[in-house]
Amino acid sequence: MNESAAVLALAERLARAAGALQRERYETAFAVGSKSAPIDLVTEVDHACEALIVRTLETERPSDAILAEEGSGRDHPGARWRWIVDPLDGTVNYAHGYPRFCVSIGVEHEGVAILGVVYDPLLDELYHAVRGAGAWRNGQRIHVSHEQELGRGLFCTGFAYDVHGARDDNLDHFAAFVKSAGGVRRDGSAALDLCYVASGRFEGYWELKLKPWDVAAGALLVEEAGGRVSDLSGGPHDPSGRSIVASNGPLHSAMLELLAGR
Ligand code: IPD
Ligand code: CA
Ligand code: CA
Repeated sequence: MNESAAVLALAERLARAAGALQRERYETAFAVGSKSAPIDLVTEVDHACEALIVRTLETERPSDAILAEEGSGRDHPGARWRWIVDPLDGTVNYAHGYPRFCVSIGVEHEGVAILGVVYDPLLDELYHAVRGAGAWRNGQRIHVSHEQELGRGLFCTGFAYDVHGARDDNLDHFAAFVKSAGGVRRDGSAALDLCYVASGRFEGYWELKLKPWDVAAGALLVEEAGGRVSDLSGGPHDPSGRSIVASNGPLHSAMLELLAGR
């Protein structure tokens, strides 16, 4: 097995293992705290999933760098491989027993995103993408939708944890889509939202103020499924997160126009 194939196999194993933990602890009594704001939740399951992933990587890939949301990763100057881990994407959903959350793992090789794995443990859906090779769900190739009409498209977005106080709160964009699109969802897991664009369930997704672990795997999935990913003004998507617009391709410019208020 070449090294990329081994890295992909490990990413899938870790995503399934952390997902199994999420499934086991779902709707049980677990500790819930908050981080940047009272609505920015973190549970003991987030920490347990991250510990499982980071500990295994430290043992099996000791030379790699790890960026993990809850802070237990490690920088490794000069590392050729970097893992970008959201141990539980959709924590607010998870804390409320709303069945939409996942594990997201993106991998960079020499600074380029080359692999992405997202696992939804309740639906048992494992998404993966390999740069230049394609995107899959449970082993079947996936593709973005062909829809060309904004008014028939289903879109999704999310709101950052500073939404109670921030002026740039995304509500203007949300209203614009509600008035023009076929439908709009706020489903609470950026990584799954991107997978749903990749697999044609959504025509598009946008959000402001994201973090690298929210999009590391999902952005590659959209591109490898034939879709388009950019920042809010149509420029290249910044992998460090921030704003993202992801679409099936034909509806990208219509999304950008709505987001620009035109
Ligand atoms: C959040 C989710 C949510 C998005 C937020 C993210 P977390 O991640 O992806 O859908 O709207 O911006 O922070 O906190 O559940 O890992
Ligand atoms: Ca998370
Ligand atoms: Ca997240």
